[in-house]
Amino acid sequence: MNTVLMASNRGPVSFTLADDGTLTMRRGGGGMVSGLSEIAKDADVLWVCAALSDGDRSAVRRAPGGRLDQAGYDTGAVRMLDIPPATFHRAYNAVANSTLWFVNHLLYDTPNSPQFDTRFRREWESYQDYNAAFALALAEEAAHGARVMIQDYHLTLAPAMLRVERPDLRISHFSHTPWAPPEYFSLLPDDISAELLSGILGADRAGFLTARWASAFMDCCEVLLGARVDRAARTIAYEGRTTHVGVHPLGVDGDALWARALEPDVESHMTALRERVGDKKLIVRIDRTELSKNIVRGLLAYKQFLTDHPEWHGKVVHLAFAYPSRHDLPEYREYTAAVQRCATEIEDEFGGEDWDPLILNVNDDYARSLAAYRMADVLLVNPIRDGMNLVAKEGPILAPHCALVLSREAGAASELGADALMVNPYDVSGTANALHDALVLPEEERAKRGARLRAAATALPPHRWFADQLAALDT
Ligand code: G6P
Repeated sequence: MNTVLMASNRGPVSFTLADDGTLTMRRGGGGMVSGLSEIAKDADVLWVCAALSDGDRSAVRRAPGGRLDQAGYDTGAVRMLDIPPATFHRAYNAVANSTLWFVNHLLYDTPNSPQFDTRFRREWESYQDYNAAFALALAEEAAHGARVMIQDYHLTLAPAMLRVERPDLRISHFSHTPWAPPEYFSLLPDDISAELLSGILGADRAGFLTARWASAFMDCCEVLLGARVDRAARTIAYEGRTTHVGVHPLGVDGDALWARALEPDVESHMTALRERVGDKKLIVRIDRTELSKNIVRGLLAYKQFLTDHPEWHGKVVHLAFAYPSRHDLPEYREYTAAVQRCATEIEDEFGGEDWDPLILNVNDDYARSLAAYRMADVLLVNPIRDGMNLVAKEGPILAPHCALVLSREAGAASELGADALMVNPYDVSGTANALHDALVLPEEERAKRGARLRAAATALPPHRWFADQLAALDT
């Protein structure tokens, strides 16, 4: 039995299964997970997560009660849930990633999608089952009065389900995404939007990355659920219980990031990149190939900038790292192709024998990303909507003289906006102008802004973010 429990879809480790049946363990991906995996080892934390792959399922089946630590893995205390693959697929791909992610990032293309039909109802049942599996495991593992921290849109229903089983627990839910305003959230069928909102209200505390997303959540609870919201106190009263809303803007552990960025594999990527680009200025972007990251408009803005400013031809290179993500979804496969097409157009129009205006990398390589950060003159972060965006925080830590072009729709804008060059992510011409302004920003100004960006980016590193929320659950 544990006194602190974390729950998230993606856990701190994952496994790959070789043809001969051997399993290789890797640290889990994603900013939040990698930031917290070490902390979870130190504290008395049990991490409950889902098996995501055949490798994970095979590891779980070899571990007593799904406890990876008890099977001898160096994971910290982790229980991985072997949810049936079809249920997992419907809950993760169809509901979490195609519906809830789309709603909260305002991604729907409303003439054609969404369509809530009988098939969706089946998918929704799987989402309920997936959440119930987490609630059950947490109820089994939690000591009396334990604190349970449930993460993200995959697990929106789990807080209320767990509350029914274990009223003694102190439960928090944290949303790492934006939250949609009520007029958009109400695209969802009424019973489903009510179940999602009241699912989170099963928690004692509901956490968000910015005041803007917290406020949108409170609006949804008031308008769609009829809950009583006290905005000054940040409380929501519903069905005899009160949930406190908190804002915890996750930041970066600057020392740990630098320690990794000084390793030899990063240095050799830097040498190779420098050989390739010479002394040209670098505009860098690093993203998952994710619809909300707005990569196509970013490339169009670069193209516009090259058209407007021929004096920069041969003197600048755009390094665009767009790593594979969620390829089970057709929208993501199509988007990846659109990114590729747009890159080819730029190369065809401007590239020549002695100048590659654009280097697009689509294979994930963390060491190469760190090398790119360290060499960046301009960092472009232009999501159409983003919970926080840790790239906007990592870049300024590693590149003290880098100018940041930042979307006003990224959560990070509330902390970094004053020192970044802010853009409307839909405004391609505006973004093109900002790229130019960033390139010509005087050195002294870059240094001044860079110092403030770094201070903001490291203000709430993951271990403090975690500790603050644990402490808040005690009050
Ligand atoms: C976002 C979510 C995370 C998620 C990550 C990667 O940042 O907030 O919960 O893990 O995207 O997405 P994936 O679907 O690959 O886990």
